[in-house]
Amino acid sequence: MTASAAAVAEDDREILDVTDRRSATHYELPIAEGAIRATDLRRIKTGPEDPGVVSYDPGLFNTAVCKSRITYVDGECGILRYRGYPIEELAERSTFLETAYLIVKGELPDSERLAAWRRNVAHHTAVHENIKKFMEGFRYDANPMGMLVGTLGALATFYPDAMNVHDLESRRLQTRRLIGKMPTLAAFAYRHNRGLPYVYPDDELGYAANFLSMVFRTGQRRYRPDPVVERALEVLFILHADHEQNCSTNALRCVASAHADPYAAVAAAVAALGGPRHGGANSEVIRMFREIGSVGRVRASIAEFKKGERRLMGFGHRVYKSYDPRVKIMKRLAHDVFAATGRNPLIDIAVELETIALEDEYFVSRRLYPNLDFYSGIIYQAIGFPEAMFPVLFAIPRTAGWMAQWAEIITDPEQKIARPRQIYVGAPARRYLPIESRKPHGASEGAVAGAI
Ligand code: CMC
Repeated sequence: MTASAAAVAEDDREILDVTDRRSATHYELPIAEGAIRATDLRRIKTGPEDPGVVSYDPGLFNTAVCKSRITYVDGECGILRYRGYPIEELAERSTFLETAYLIVKGELPDSERLAAWRRNVAHHTAVHENIKKFMEGFRYDANPMGMLVGTLGALATFYPDAMNVHDLESRRLQTRRLIGKMPTLAAFAYRHNRGLPYVYPDDELGYAANFLSMVFRTGQRRYRPDPVVERALEVLFILHADHEQNCSTNALRCVASAHADPYAAVAAAVAALGGPRHGGANSEVIRMFREIGSVGRVRASIAEFKKGERRLMGFGHRVYKSYDPRVKIMKRLAHDVFAATGRNPLIDIAVELETIALEDEYFVSRRLYPNLDFYSGIIYQAIGFPEAMFPVLFAIPRTAGWMAQWAEIITDPEQKIARPRQIYVGAPARRYLPIESRKPHGASEGAVAGAI
């Protein structure tokens, strides 16, 4: 079968003409908003027994899974907007909670609504004492992302009302709860790793300041963060608040499509985010900088990355094929933070890596640029966070985006339970043999492709 991909205007409709050479049949597939419906491909069949053509798209490279009104990314031109507002303006002028309001509610708040939103989120920063006990049960060196995944799952049992996913008031309540509690869970995970007593939220502080207080407060009666560090963390949170259909958001939408509660959906998203190809890259980046060790060794390391044995972490993006606008902001932010905290010497390695890579044919031809995770770890480290916390610092603000995406999928009448298709390439039908009749099969990995 070949598809002659000619889009023609017909009665004001856009049509993709497809000719199936197997049956010499012509099909017209409507194009709407630049997309054909994958289910229209099912019409293309050779006979009544044929289930029809499917699209094969590992990694969902070219498949739109939803219509969304939240975040716009143009990876060719390096544009990112939340609800239409450019990321540059939000990073310059907004606060994290105001941006979170914009993301979940669709519009910027007036001062009265913003004050109410701040109060409401602050009201939900505390967690049940049994959640604290639950977290105390983790091993002393438990990975904080693992603690977050487990504790989010446990939270669902504290809020059975969250199962009412079709109830607007319940959705609003779970959204306030999750945005409010995420920094508390993250800070408790940090304190647990350090063997330090957990610090309760301080409602009089802003979102980032309260988080810094729960993480770093020791003997002080009142913790007040350095205003430069506080603002930097607010901006970092704004930059991480949403990024449309990435791996973790897709995990969240998949779980949400089953109408599971939002705590389960966010736990799934956090689990996906922790992977080194995704949000876990920010801690891998710092390890890589440390391994490289000095500016003088950067060129030799670039040669290694080009051999394809390992990746230059913090580089490359599925969508951005030009400079990620968030990285520009982050580079400036790094220098602001260093003025307050002292310089992180790893910045020199980062800048040298970026400079050489952006002139190298390997990276240029593949359109690989630094991504969000390339500079974020350097800033987190300067503030005083350990590497294991870096993905957690991504998960806190992304919760706003996840909750907006969750509300969107729940209320979208076109959405169905996520249930992709597969192309079966395994063994043909065969009969069960008694054990004494079976021939030994290869025990080495790969004896049956993909089996373990
Ligand atoms: N270093 C070296 N080569 C790379 C890199 C890299 N970081 N990224 C991609 N390539 C090469 C890759 O080997 C392939 O080359 P070839 O065509 O010769 O086989 C080509 O570029 C395309 O790569 P891909 O894996 O097909 O691209 P993808 O869109 O599936 O993967 C990515 C995107 C982000 C997973 C990938 O670029 C990567 O692994 N980067 C390093 C990990 C990282 O920084 N992740 C954070 C992503 S951004 C924030 C987030 O979403 O969490």
